[in-house]
Order: sequence, then structure tokens, then C-alpha cells
Amino acid sequence: FYKNDLKGKTVLVSAGPTVEPLDPVRFISNHSSGKMGYAIAGAAEKRGAKVILVSGPVSLDPPVGVACVPVGSCDQMYDAMFDHLDQADIIIKVAAVGDFKPVSVNAHKIKKTGDQDQDHMTLELIQNKDILKAIGLKKRKDQYLVGFAAETRDLETYAVGKMEKKHLDMIAANIVGKSGSGFKADTNKVKLFTRDGHVTDLPLMTKEKVAHAILDAVVQAIS
Ligand code: PMT
Repeated sequence: FYKNDLKGKTVLVSAGPTVEPLDPVRFISNHSSGKMGYAIAGAAEKRGAKVILVSGPVSLDPPVGVACVPVGSCDQMYDAMFDHLDQADIIIKVAAVGDFKPVSVNAHKIKKTGDQDQDHMTLELIQNKDILKAIGLKKRKDQYLVGFAAETRDLETYAVGKMEKKHLDMIAANIVGKSGSGFKADTNKVKLFTRDGHVTDLPLMTKEKVAHAILDAVVQAIS
């Protein structure tokens, strides 16, 4: 049994990693499995929302009833999010977006030179667009924007800083790099901060339960 408290709402979720190609066979990416974002998309659908899930490459099936828009790079995720932004009432950005991409993508496979002395190579990277910040600047007052913060230390300081810098209504902060929370795990330990000063320290629990707890906080904030 699920509450039908998101009936009539459209929820736009981003999930998974982005991949930034170097050449036709290689890319730069990160450890996101998509589990957290897919749990939020599935939970929102069960609670009556229309859900659009913009997803980087993951090995999960989209939750039943959720419209999935597959993307690869940060630029593709940016375009897909903005394509669907107008119709969204709630936007939850769980995706782990690459902050940098290669300055150029080689048309052909990058080759070793064959010179034994040349055992280093340097990649030149350029900053990616900040999708969440761009949404924060563009969003209407009636749209509720939630970001995530993945940190390895000083969780609260960095998370609250990101909430302010990216003009968010709420941020869900989690520690990454430890087992049981963050990337890949089936469980997560999340602390929620809202722009109007509410702090909710959720216990370690399954990503499905974390998803419902985040949606509880969103529903409370918008009603
Ligand atoms: O997918 P799982 O394996 O289940 O792992 C879940 C998770 C750890 C990926 C998830 O819980 C999480 O923390 N997601 C955010 C990861 C991240 O990129 O955090 P960040 O602190 O670097 O970014 C802050 C926010 O800005 C995020 O909402 C991110 O989507 C957004 N961002 C970041 C950079 C960028 N160029 N554009 C963005 O929109």
C-alpha cells in the first residue's frame, strides 16, 4: 500500500553516471549504479506521480510505469533535462555527473606511440556544464528542486554550500567511498537539508526506504 500523495504531479528524476568519450573505445565515468535514482523514480510512480527518468548508462531496468530517457554525456543529460523541465513539478537530480570532459574526442582509437621511454600521457579536460545549477537559475517558483551531494568529508558544510550555490530547495547529502552507503550499495545514509532550515538525519536504510523518506519531505515542503 502506498500513499497517493503525488497524484497529479510530474516528477523529473536524473540517475546514473555520465560517460565522457575520449575516443571510439574509451570514456571517463564514475561509480554510480543508478540504484538511488531508480528507487526515487519507482517510489514516486507508486505514489501516483507521472515520472520521467533521465538516465546515464546503468544495468537496471527502468521501474514499471516510468518513462525513461537514456543519455550518455553531461551535454546529453543537460539537453534531456531541459527538454522536460517545463512540465515538471518536482525535479530530483540524483545523477553523478562528470565535472570534466576531454577537450576533444579523438575520431580514431588513441594509439601508444611505441616509444618505450614515453610511459606518461596527459589528458586535457574542460569543465562540463553544471546541469543542476542551470536548472536552479531557470526554474519557476512553483517548481521544487532537490539536489544530491556526494561527499567524502565535511558533509554538512559542502552540502549546504551546494544548496545555496545551485539555488536548490532541498539537498540530500550522502557520504561516498564507504561500504553500505553512496555508490553501488543497496542501502544509503542520507541527511536532508532544506533551504528554510529543516535538517533530517535519516538512518541507514534501503535505497527504497530512503527514496520514500525524501519524497515524504518533499510532499511536506510543498503542501
Ligand atoms: O547510483 P548509485 O550507485 O545508487 O549511487 C547513488 C549516488 C551516490 C550517485 C547518489 O546518492 C548521489 O550522491 N548523487 C549525486 C552525485 C554527485 O554528482 O554529487 P556532486 O556532489 O558531485 O553533485 C552535486 C549535485 O549537482 C548533484 O545533484 C549532481 O547531479 C549535480 N551536478 C553535478 C555536476 C554537474 N556538472 N552537473 C550537475 O547537475
